[in-house]
Parts: sequence; structure tokens; C-alpha cells
Amino acid sequence: MSRVTVIGAGYVGLVTGACLAAIGHDVIGMDVDVEKVRRLNAGEVPIYEPGLAELVAAQRDRLTFTADATEAYRQGEFIFVCVDTPPSYSGDADLSRIWQVIDSLPSEDGPRVLVTKSTVPVGTGAAIQAELTARGLAHVSYCSNPEFLREGTAIADFMHPDRVVVGANDVETRDRVASLYDPLQATVLKTDVPSAEMIKYASNAFLATKISFINEIANVCEATGADVRTVAHGMGLDRRIGPQFLQAGIGYGGSCFPKDVSALKQLAGNSGYHFQLLTAVIEVNELQKRRVIGKLKHHLGAELRGKRIALLGLAFKPNTDDIREASSVVLAGRLQAEGAVVTAFDPVAMDSVARLLPSLHLATSALAALDGADACVLVTEWSEFMSLDWAQVRAVMAQPVVIDGRNALDAEALVALGFTYEGIGTRIASA
Ligand code: UDX
Repeated sequence: MSRVTVIGAGYVGLVTGACLAAIGHDVIGMDVDVEKVRRLNAGEVPIYEPGLAELVAAQRDRLTFTADATEAYRQGEFIFVCVDTPPSYSGDADLSRIWQVIDSLPSEDGPRVLVTKSTVPVGTGAAIQAELTARGLAHVSYCSNPEFLREGTAIADFMHPDRVVVGANDVETRDRVASLYDPLQATVLKTDVPSAEMIKYASNAFLATKISFINEIANVCEATGADVRTVAHGMGLDRRIGPQFLQAGIGYGGSCFPKDVSALKQLAGNSGYHFQLLTAVIEVNELQKRRVIGKLKHHLGAELRGKRIALLGLAFKPNTDDIREASSVVLAGRLQAEGAVVTAFDPVAMDSVARLLPSLHLATSALAALDGADACVLVTEWSEFMSLDWAQVRAVMAQPVVIDGRNALDAEALVALGFTYEGIGTRIASA
């Protein structure tokens, strides 16, 4: 078993550290946020991810945290870089935190492998390797090992990956990093560094393309009377297409897809190639978030001023408190700009939203958000919304209009209760 240092105790770093400890490695997590480190060492996990707090608690013997870089580096044979690479104003990935890590590497000590988990533009590994050589750090070898974790299922994704991608320019480094994952008995793809970096971007961009594609099909279904759910099912039965990521809705969000699609587009542009398809993928997604406005106007009249709209769900998807690039944020802003009175409820993401959109009314429950509403928009398909007492909802709403932004509710049951129901790419249903 190996000694691993994980730099960055954010989402990726915590999941990676806890899972590497769970498969037997000794892990020390390092973060510059002293308060976060204190909380983690006290057993508090500051992010919402199902199973993570339990996993961190169970690994206390093999997983510790520090804010002291010297202590963190003293331990690790492997240094996993799991810091943020947020989008910059230009749409490129901001790599400043990665370079801070490289700059802070100690100059004299034993052999180590620097492993980048963070998503970085293709070519970053080569630049890092050049910097390591320039600084005389010949004892540090380099590996790109991108993460493919989905929020909400990150632990299962780590423990049962479709593949582990290990990119290094020498066989020994590849083998050493691959062996860390031996306990998972996973498919390991060993590549060169730039290919590993590209696999991450290409995978996320392809999945985002699949979503924008089905969303456009949904929009055409609305105009032609087809039902996108049936269409997606029929498409997905073709094994070359597959059923996944064909759920039409009000757009993708989160910390990865929007950022990675934009970064890949920039990366191509910076290399002199205009990636036309991704430009469309991004635009379709932006428009998709706003299509709900047209649907509401269809049911409530062209003037939304003063209309009470309830948003169910704010997180970019269920089982996370993450609202980064969430469709809810754009939708709430657009509705407020139309003069609507917007009240929202989310089972876990309320605090994040209160900070970002202080003018949004936040209700204490779904039912409270729906009280007196002229329309309900399902934004995030949390299971608790599926099991709401919709007869009671009908009783408290001012008008029985439901816009299902995720095609997740039972349309027939809602219509039987007297609702007018409209999904995405489906026919409007009413009694
Ligand atoms: C994604 C990738 O799946 C993961 O491999 C990568 O490492 C990080 O980005 P994540 O952002 O956690 O993971 O969420 P994911 O479950 O992939 O969903 C992303 C967004 O797409 C959500 O907003 C979701 O609602 C939306 N989506 C997903 C659809 O609109 N339709 C679909 O069919 C699937």
C-alpha cells in the first residue's frame, strides 16, 4: 500500500482521498483553508455528497488532513493534485491553483509521482513537466489521471469506474499509478499525457452534446406532436447510441459540463481550430434554460408581472447542494426580470442560493413554496417532489399549472387531479 498526498480538500480531493484510503492507502489531505482542515480533522465534512461523511469517518486511521504543505509533502510518494480549475473570463481554464502547487513542491527529497486529477487543458502536463525539468526536480515524475466522478454518486463512481485513465510518458510511472487502483479491479487505460487530458474533455463534451442534441429533438417534438421520451427510448435501444444522457430537460449545469465544454472550445480556438459543434452545444443549453418562460406565458398570459411562480429544486441535479451553473439560477433571474414573484424550495441547496440570489423568496417546504402559486416549475427532480401529495398541492395553488422541466412527474396522475401539465418535448396535457 502506498503513501498518498492529496492537494485540495474540495469535492474531488475529498472523494479521491477518502476512496484511496478505503482501498488501503495512507492518505494525507492538504488544503490552504485552515478552518476547513480543522473541521475535517474533527470529523466534519463540509460538502454534501451521499456516503462521504461516513467514509471519511470510517477511514480515520488512514486519512488525515493538514494545512501545512511541508507536512503534506513529507508523506507522499504520490502527490494527487485536486485543486479547482474554474473558468476564467476568457472561457479558458484558470490554472493558477495548479501552478501554486507546482511552485510549492519541495526541491530536495525522494522520488515522487505528481498526479493531476483536476481537469486541465491538453498541453498542461507537458508545460508542468517542462517546469519540473527547469527547476531541476528530476526526481518528480508526472501523470495525468483525470477524474470522472458525478456529484451525488461520486463514491460509487470511484469504486466502480467504467475506466481509469492513466497518462504518463514513461512506462514505470504509468504502472506505478495504475497499481494504486489494483484493489478496484477496474479497466485501466494507459496512455500518454496529452491523450489522457483529452479523454476527459472529449468525454464531458460528448455527454453535453448528447444532452443538447436530445433537447433540440425535444423542441422539435413540441412543434410536431412527437413525444421526446418515446423518441429517446427508441433511439437508446440502438446499442450504438445507448440510452444514457438522453433525458430532455431545461439544460445541463454543474461544475463540469459548462466549464469543460467552454474550455475545450477555447483550447481548440487557441490552437487555431474553430470547434463549431461545441458553440452550438453551449448555445442550445443557454436557450433551453429560458424556454420555460415561453411555456409559462402560454399558460398564464404574456404578462408575467405579479404572477407567483414556484420553483421546485435549485441544485443543478438531485442529491447535491451544488448550484454552480444550475438552470435554476438563470430561470429565477429571467422570471424576476419579467416581474414575476418567484418562490423556491430545495431540500439541500437553500444556503448556497440565499448567498447567490438574495432577492429570491425561499420557502421552508415545497408546499409552502406552492402556496398561492400561479404555476409550479419542477427544476430539479428530487425524489421528494415525486412523492409530494399533489392533491394537497392542487388545493393550495392559485392556478393548477405544472411545468415539468425534467419530465419526471406523473403527467396522467396530475391531469386526473385537475392540473394542466407541460413537460419538455411532450404534449400539453389537461383534463
Ligand atoms: C459530470 C460527468 O458525468 C462526470 O463524469 C464528470 O467528471 C463531471 O461532470 P456531474 O456534473 O456531477 O458529472 O453530473 P451529471 O450527472 O453528469 O449531470 C450533469 C448535468 O446534465 C445535470 O445538470 C443533469 O441534470 C444534466 N443531464 C444529465 C440532462 O439534462 N440529461 C441527461 O440525460 C443527463
